[in-house]
Amino acid sequence: MSSPQPLATSAQPCLLALESSCDETAAALCTLDGALIASRIASQIEIHRPYGGVVPEVASRNHILHVRPLVAQVLADAGKKLGDVTAFAATSGPGLVSSLLIGTSMAKALAIAENKPFLAVNHMEGHLLSPFMNEQGPVRPCVALIVSGGHTMLVRVHGVGRYELLGRTRDDAAGEAFDKVAKMLGLPYPGGPEIDKLASRGDPAAFAFPRSFLDGSSLEFSFSGLKTAVLYELPKIDLKNEQTLANVCASVQAAILEVLVEKLVLAAKRNRESLVTVSGGVSCNRGLRAALTARCANEGLQLLLARPDLCTDNAGMIAFAAVQRYNTGHSSPLEADVDPNLSLVS
Ligand code: KG4
Ligand code: ZN
Repeated sequence: MSSPQPLATSAQPCLLALESSCDETAAALCTLDGALIASRIASQIEIHRPYGGVVPEVASRNHILHVRPLVAQVLADAGKKLGDVTAFAATSGPGLVSSLLIGTSMAKALAIAENKPFLAVNHMEGHLLSPFMNEQGPVRPCVALIVSGGHTMLVRVHGVGRYELLGRTRDDAAGEAFDKVAKMLGLPYPGGPEIDKLASRGDPAAFAFPRSFLDGSSLEFSFSGLKTAVLYELPKIDLKNEQTLANVCASVQAAILEVLVEKLVLAAKRNRESLVTVSGGVSCNRGLRAALTARCANEGLQLLLARPDLCTDNAGMIAFAAVQRYNTGHSSPLEADVDPNLSLVS
């Protein structure tokens, strides 16, 4: 479990949120003005690593083990009691059904026991709004890039709950491309952070991997061609040579990053939007953060990046999204079901 953060204990009302959409069990407390006052994650990465990916049944069994202790821990971290919590929230999709059910059932049970409202939160809205956390708010109109393990999308944010899809991937998500290529290279799961590490020692121009811009003006993405290009290159290269491996990683990363950066800038220009945000697990990538910072400065765009510890799955971003909704009078019926394919835009 992650270590506690330095916390500002406050007498302010707060919201407790749970995240269990995939392999991380997480709990967090956010004040109703959006300040994160406690956040804990029980990571299952080591448990799933031998399988090279997430095993849904193993994930849900581990969520059951961790969810109750996590709730107790975040309350203790913030010096709160269950009775101090104003509302309970949980991710209701998209994700693995058996995993989603653990967090939502727990949050609903707490809401019933405490006679407080329940809020079902879209995991992608959590990622989408996360750049506005840590006093970067309020949430305001922007063009947002979400790059995670399951999704790559460009979204026009008009305000909380008012989202317009500008483009998405036609095949693999960016994180999926990192993970699949890493697997081909014999690197451990999850591959994104491994490629990130090795890429810093490699030459991004060593291999000319394809950049799929589609027709050049499209805001859609495609990463499956990159995977195939790496597969064709594999028999010709010596992966035991550390420098060659680093060069492949740097070249793959450069191919993914260039497309992400260019399409975000194109989307901002086309929508005449000067604020851009980037979130999701892949936005941890140091090369991506550096490339975005440089390019946005050149283009005169204001860039908000999710804080690195809030890029990958966490409950803080779910609590923050729930607070935005709660403050506008929103709550969900206890009958609200989970939805593995829940969409961000209707
Ligand atoms: O947002 P996230 O934690 O989970 C989903 O909602 O999918 O994203 C996980 C993805 C994985 O594909 C992982 O390899 C990728 O984010 N990732 C990275 C880095 N850290 C995590 N990809 C590239 N570079 C990183 N440093
Ligand atoms: Zn996620």
